[in-house]
Amino acid sequence: MQIDASEDGADAPRAPTEPRPEDAPAAAGAGPGATTHFGFSEIPEAEKAGRVEGVFTSVASRYDLMNDLMSARIHRLWKEAALDWLAPRAGMRLLDVAGGTGDIAFRFLRRTKGTGSVTVCDLTEGMLEEGRRRAEAQGVHGVTWVQGDAMALPFEDRSFDAYTIAFGIRNVTRPQKALEEAYRVLKPGGRLIVLEFSAIPQPALAQAYDLYSFNVIPALGEAVTGDRDSYQYLVESIRRFPDQETFLGMIRDAGFGRAAYRNLTLGVAAVHSGWRL
Ligand SMILES: C[S@@+](CC[C@H](N)C(=O)[O-])C[C@H]1O[C@@H](n2cnc3c(N)ncnc32)[C@H](O)[C@@H]1O
Repeated sequence: MQIDASEDGADAPRAPTEPRPEDAPAAAGAGPGATTHFGFSEIPEAEKAGRVEGVFTSVASRYDLMNDLMSARIHRLWKEAALDWLAPRAGMRLLDVAGGTGDIAFRFLRRTKGTGSVTVCDLTEGMLEEGRRRAEAQGVHGVTWVQGDAMALPFEDRSFDAYTIAFGIRNVTRPQKALEEAYRVLKPGGRLIVLEFSAIPQPALAQAYDLYSFNVIPALGEAVTGDRDSYQYLVESIRRFPDQETFLGMIRDAGFGRAAYRNLTLGVAAVHSGWRL
């Protein structure tokens, strides 16, 4: 497992990578006729959240097992790398959006030795149920589980010290709106951390990764969960997500300062960071 130390930010400019042509973010709320992508399909914008919820409801009970199988457990290292960069401190108040079954929340609580508090907010009740079940099984206390949409968070302005979203934002109908919501609920001085699949800059490696993704993951999904389509959506949604530089620009557009990113495993994933200054 390699975690690249490469980092970009206002003070560390680097050559922009070519955005993937299909990666244009969804139109920002263009009205009732607006469409957006769902994997490689184009669907009415109003249908996307329901389709995404259907995917995660279907896979919830096998979600954690599939993550370990698909990534050979590397997703665990990526989550640790995201938390390393966040550097949780005692008493910190974290909002983990699209927090699913609690991976980020549990790690955060371990690192703050129980002094921090974490709210997991997720669109899919089935994922939250799985998270509550895991918390009980592992004796984890102190997580507040809330059903909600990243684009309309059910929280007051300026109420959290940190906001994380891991492998969630590419599923959101309008990622830019989710970033604006993140900014709204963070206190001044608060920190945004986004962990997401990203773009591998090296073409030969990108091609090898595509071969693995499109041939192995849907078949594995079918074998383990009986649901090939959800894992086909997963790999397609990764290809549709903006590359590192484009997403960095979106974070800046949402108002965040000192925006920067770090590639993980040659760009298979990336962590982006920003501050509400
Ligand atoms: C791939 S899972 C990631 C779960 C967890 N963060 C992790 O890293 O294991 C994506 C999660 O995003 C949630 N999600 C998708 N769209 C969302 C939205 N608009 N608002 C909140 N959560 C959303 C899904 O329900 C799902 O639990």
